[in-house]
Amino acid sequence: MNYKVINFKGKLNLFSEHWSPKVVAEMNDYQFKLVKIQGEFTWHSHPDTDEVFIVISGYLQIEFRDSVISLGPGEMTVVPKGVEHKPRAEQECEVLLVEPRGVVNTGDTGDTGDTGDTGDTGGGLTAENDIWI
Ligand code: NI
Repeated sequence: MNYKVINFKGKLNLFSEHWSPKVVAEMNDYQFKLVKIQGEFTWHSHPDTDEVFIVISGYLQIEFRDSVISLGPGEMTVVPKGVEHKPRAEQECEVLLVEPRGVVNTGDTGDTGDTGDTGDTGGGLTAENDIWI
């Protein structure tokens, strides 16, 4: 067996672009993805799955239609499936996402054939899936 240590900081040093999740591990059908976030994402929801955000560094706000939460290092949240959300960070924030393989980052606004609530295509923020580092 190839038992590996996966070091978040080491992996985060391998890329610099924002809103472009990189897969670092899989567990059954779930993927662990590191992403750097800065600025505002697009409103979206994931009709088939919850989504986990674990903040490694920096501060992440997640807007919901009826409230907003702020997460700091060592904090996490689970966004329930179907709930509209918009992540944003004033300064760069490093986050670990946990979600099933194949989830589109822009959810119902992404290029999945679904028209979404705004009819856009993720505002140009839809990332290619399954990019490993
Ligand atoms: Ni999402």
